[in-house]
Amino acid sequence: MNNHNLTTEQVQALRDQCLAAREYAYAPYSKFRVGCAILTKAGSIVTGANVENASYGAGICAERTAITRCVMEGQKELQAIAISSDMADCVSPCGICRQFIREFAPKVPVLMFSGQSDKMVCHTLEELLPLSFGPEHLH
Ligand code: THU
Repeated sequence: MNNHNLTTEQVQALRDQCLAAREYAYAPYSKFRVGCAILTKAGSIVTGANVENASYGAGICAERTAITRCVMEGQKELQAIAISSDMADCVSPCGICRQFIREFAPKVPVLMFSGQSDKMVCHTLEELLPLSFGPEHLH
């Protein structure tokens, strides 16, 4: 049973594109490349990769790079988010990225792919960030 309602073709495209996006990672410090692919409600796929900095804390994760690109393309409604690193384990989004995803896609499925096999783990954002704080709590 799936906890997403994506087609096999959509999952495949998300996998291909998040793996490909790793090529654009700028990760000279951690050497840990991450790629992200986002399926927007409009049906397009927007990618991102982590971009590190000599001032380590200034680096940004792949997920936030991709979401920022979506926002700048006027696509704030997101259908699914996919990520992968080069590792065998399925990479899990960090806490800041979970909160960043929460802003635009509180119920979105997050597909985590292995960087070395066809293994995939999928959790909804609600599962990854329960009892979350969002825009509606500000008023
Ligand atoms: N990173 C991501 O881009 N996404 C994640 O989900 C986990 C961590 C990046 C941040 C940093 O550039 C490198 O991976 C090591 O933490």
